[in-house]
Amino acid sequence: MKHTKIHCFLLLVIISLQTALAGEFMTNIYGRNLQSLNGKWNAIIDLYDQGRKNKIYLNKKPQGKTDFYEYSFENGLRLNVPSDWNSQNPELKYYEGTVWYARRFDVQQVENKRLFLYFGAVSYRCKVYLNGIEIGSHEGGFTPFQIEVTNQLNATDNFLAVEVNNTRTADAMPAMAFDWWNYGGITRDVFLVSTPQTFIEDYTVHLDKYKADRINATVKLSAGSVNSPVVIEIPELNVKHKLTANEKGMAAISFNVKKIERWSPQSPKLYKVIITSGNDKVEELIGFRNLYVKGIDIYLNDKPIFLKSVSFHEEIPQRKGRAFSEADAAMLLTEAKALGCNMIRLAHYPQNEYTVRMAEKMGFLLWEEIPVWQGINFENKDTKAKAGNMIQEMIMRDKNRCALTFWGVANETQPSAARNEFLKYLINCCHEIDTTRLLTSAFDLVRFNKEKTMFEMNDPFIKELDVVAINKYMGWYHSWPVSPDKAVWNVAPDQPLIISEFGGEALYGQSGDENVASSWSEDYQAKLYRDNIAMFSNIPNLRGVSPWVLFDFRSPFRFHPTNQDGWNRKGLVSDQGFRKKAWYIMRDYYKTK
Ligand code: GCU
Repeated sequence: MKHTKIHCFLLLVIISLQTALAGEFMTNIYGRNLQSLNGKWNAIIDLYDQGRKNKIYLNKKPQGKTDFYEYSFENGLRLNVPSDWNSQNPELKYYEGTVWYARRFDVQQVENKRLFLYFGAVSYRCKVYLNGIEIGSHEGGFTPFQIEVTNQLNATDNFLAVEVNNTRTADAMPAMAFDWWNYGGITRDVFLVSTPQTFIEDYTVHLDKYKADRINATVKLSAGSVNSPVVIEIPELNVKHKLTANEKGMAAISFNVKKIERWSPQSPKLYKVIITSGNDKVEELIGFRNLYVKGIDIYLNDKPIFLKSVSFHEEIPQRKGRAFSEADAAMLLTEAKALGCNMIRLAHYPQNEYTVRMAEKMGFLLWEEIPVWQGINFENKDTKAKAGNMIQEMIMRDKNRCALTFWGVANETQPSAARNEFLKYLINCCHEIDTTRLLTSAFDLVRFNKEKTMFEMNDPFIKELDVVAINKYMGWYHSWPVSPDKAVWNVAPDQPLIISEFGGEALYGQSGDENVASSWSEDYQAKLYRDNIAMFSNIPNLRGVSPWVLFDFRSPFRFHPTNQDGWNRKGLVSDQGFRKKAWYIMRDYYKTK
């Protein structure tokens, strides 16, 4: 391979701490040796939480004439994994509580391997039992976790039980009331991951924040890999660097490359990156782009960009259930593409990796957040620690996705010292792992100042953020104090601003008076969009908009029997996939951008 032209400034830089790793986490699970444990699992609904006390995870069978067990996982309820339980059985539609999942499995590859159970997500909290022993637990319904089981597995007939609970609690995230369905279950892929004894545990490979020809890479090997050789290759760029791991199993390098095609929505170029060390080899498609803020502009690859975004929940409305597959991702993203978007706000929690990776391939910038949604218990130390863990799990999973543009630390939180300290802690948790993305948070505190006849906001926390995001429902939750085209904004004037939510409800197919909100009509929603778009040109630092929301979605506090019936009807597309009038207005607006 020709090295002459490539000025390798082999800066054997121990970019330590910047990319410190949050706990045991294996990067790029989908690039590993996987045995799928998806499929039909046995299940027991445990309404009164008696299962643990009765040790049902032992799955005991009567031996003699006198003993008997008032449970059995066989011949009972069967649930699909991955999926939520609510959409699988009418009795579970509103179910909130504990459900036990269980299945048996043999291990395909044991010799000289380390073995990890990987869960893409379990909603909301769970305990995991293997062959009758509790081996781990996790809290947070939207981030992955893994448990090493190398020494706990039999070659055949292992019994895996997962005690899943989605009861809302005040110290959780989200907390007691939130505007989406509280789906429960093992909602994403479950794998048995096998690796060599020493393996490539984690790595970060990305283009420098500002330099268009500089790549920074770090690799962390599993314990016991001191002085092991590590090779980083990007064949298409003629890159091959040999490194040696240090006493912490870490190796890092920063090197120049030429002729790199930077990733962008117009050309979402990805390169195959290969990392090898000993018997382990991991490959991944990774894109390279520069991203930074200068003044009130957001720069992608040194050009200011306007974010044409839309939000969606991780839900397939036609199925009234969680999205979890590549096909689901394609359905959601194809609709966003048709609308003319170059960004997606994945609301209000980290969504599955199929959606994130497909969005990157399709050229969508991404905003990802953890569900610090409205009334979180900011004073609670455990809640803070959980939030920190949740945001680090999210970043560890997606830090090599160049499409990831924003880490969102919160949505619609009210100013307080406890809130500020909580969010500041989250920002530090982000920076411990990644400093290359933009930090944001969505606020709903913009108010009209009658004296100054302009919209303003006073929340000093915005100074901690790279980009300020505003949720503002003019024409729905707020009536117009002035005509939309006269609605002037003076909000965070020296920072880039995104309208991260706006919109109103309409029942698909319902026509009515465009000036009457309670018409719940497409006509009213359409006019509301025209009015908001008129206002947007009065926001000097506006650098993006994200209508709320792409599809109608399930929500337990949308009670209007005929117009809502358990659906938030702010979708531009109905629950059956039909585009409302406002969809075309938004599409045409994005055409002008
Ligand atoms: C809020 C919130 C969303 C909610 C929306 C609505 O702004 O962030 O989660 O669905 O308003 O009321 O429709």
